[in-house]
Amino acid sequence: MAFRKILLFVFLSLALVLIGATASVAEAAEPNDQCLQCHSNKGFSIEKEGKTVSLYVDSNELSQSVHGTNDCQTCHAGMEDIPHKETVSSVRELAAKVTERCQVCHADVNKEYKDSTHGKLAAEGQETAYCSDCHGAHTIVKTENENSLVNRTNITETCTKCHSGEIAESYVESFHGKAVNLGSTKAATCVDCHTDHMILGPTEPKSTVSKANVPETCASCHNTAQPNFAVGSEHWTFEPDGPGKPMYYTLKFFTWLTIATIVLLIVHIELDLFRKYKNAGKK
Ligand code: HEC
Ligand code: HEC
Ligand code: HEC
Ligand code: HEC
Ligand code: HEC
Ligand code: HEC
Ligand code: HEC
Repeated sequence: MAFRKILLFVFLSLALVLIGATASVAEAAEPNDQCLQCHSNKGFSIEKEGKTVSLYVDSNELSQSVHGTNDCQTCHAGMEDIPHKETVSSVRELAAKVTERCQVCHADVNKEYKDSTHGKLAAEGQETAYCSDCHGAHTIVKTENENSLVNRTNITETCTKCHSGEIAESYVESFHGKAVNLGSTKAATCVDCHTDHMILGPTEPKSTVSKANVPETCASCHNTAQPNFAVGSEHWTFEPDGPGKPMYYTLKFFTWLTIATIVLLIVHIELDLFRKYKNAGKK
């Protein structure tokens, strides 16, 4: 606590001196300069929930992003008071707070996001994917750019940060997952089947992956919609429980069948050799 106060005091004094100096030199300073007087210091950090949270912002990265000309306050409203009056208590709370700002400017995207599973959970204040979880914060670039977290070369990693386990494994092992990993520009990524912002779980009728809509979803690439596209499960792994059960027991069956066949074959050859040896001995 004491350390935090000292830190605040040091930066506050520093800022006041610098603000005074810049104001007297040039009236029209860039609006972000004031914020960067504290936040461009590499070691600038604070303790939150027992962890050290960096408060450093790389202004070069920000200026090269699609939001290079944004004022800080477009995403961080209400921070003009120094020391700040309305601070958050955790990093996740900050992600939730900024999401509300993204939603204001990107109204088109928000029309879809707010009705999605992720968006509904965000509105309820529950753990979910906020805008910055898929896009980043100060480094957002155009989707076509290979550095974009939502570019097709990075989207698997972005979604599986949270959807690990069976979902991630089954996709990476699937035909689509392997092809995308090898650089295919046509095979399905997570968002080709789930959409980018209108993501809903399979039990929601409007979802692109509900039983009724799966054929159409696959048909966007596989010319004709075949009803049997919806019969199997998309995400399955070789496990005795869950959607992979039939494939698991089929694999087990054929594995043991192969082992049994080879064992019998070896026994047969051994017996045959033994008889030939015996017969040779009789002569
Ligand atoms: C396009 C929106 C946007 C702009 C513009 C923006 N920020 Fe951020 N900022 C974010 C988001 C989103 C986060 C939260 C990231 C997270 O979830 O960890 C963040 C986090 C922060 C943090 C917390 C530390 C961190 O990096 O997570 C600070 C401090 C900060 N921003 C300061 C600034 C300053 C100063 C400016 C202007 C120079 C600025 N931001 C401009 C979106 C923005
Ligand atoms: C005098 C130094 C100073 C200046 C100038 C300053 N900040 Fe901060 N900023 C801080 C400190 C200290 C914290 C940590 C506050 C806390 O969490 O208790 C902080 C935290 C933040 C955070 C993290 C989120 C949060 O609520 O803790 C953001 C975002 C932020 N500042 C944005 C800005 C913006 C935008 C400006 C310009 C309008 C600005 N800051 C100017 C010192 C400063
Ligand atoms: C679950 C991950 C995810 C979340 C959460 C998310 N996005 Fe996206 N967003 C994507 C993907 C993936 C694309 C790229 C789609 C493509 O390949 O064209 C995208 C594209 C975009 C685009 C550019 C294309 C367009 O549709 O205009 C904008 C702008 C955008 N998102 C803003 C937002 C905002 C604002 C939020 C929060 C309200 C948000 N996104 C939340 C995944 C996400
Ligand atoms: C003050 C308004 C404003 C805010 C706030 C804002 N954006 Fe943007 N955003 C823009 C503008 C303007 C563009 C550039 C549009 C263009 O060049 O086509 C843009 C571009 C983008 C793009 C790139 C779209 C593409 O064509 O690939 C993404 C992604 C994006 N914003 C996401 C976000 C996210 C996430 C947040 C919150 C962290 C956010 N924006 C906050 C105005 C804003
Ligand atoms: C070829 C289309 C396709 C691709 C690619 C795909 N999914 Fe799915 N996903 C589905 C279908 C269909 C379902 C419905 C349940 C099922 O069949 O397994 C589903 C279900 C889900 C569920 C809900 C699981 C449940 O049981 O409630 C999540 C979460 C999910 N997918 C995430 C992902 C992620 C993350 C990726 C990328 C790593 C991905 N999906 C790639 C088609 C796809
Ligand atoms: C920051 C973490 C995070 C990221 C990143 C994320 N999600 Fe989610 N997602 C969640 C949480 C939390 C839920 C709600 C709990 C659940 O169903 O797993 C959810 C729910 C879902 C559901 C609905 C599951 C159901 O059964 O109702 C789908 C489908 C889904 N996400 C797909 C995706 C895809 C595709 C991406 C990438 C474009 C993605 N998610 C990125 C955290 C995340
Ligand atoms: C974004 C486009 C896209 C979507 C959506 C898509 N696929 Fe594919 N899929 C491909 C491509 C491309 C290939 C590789 C085709 C080839 O080389 O023959 C492929 C290959 C496959 C294969 C293995 C190869 C084969 O032709 O037998 C299966 C099975 C498959 N997809 C099923 C599905 C199912 C089921 C869905 C819907 C849940 C689906 N796909 C959705 C693009 C897509």
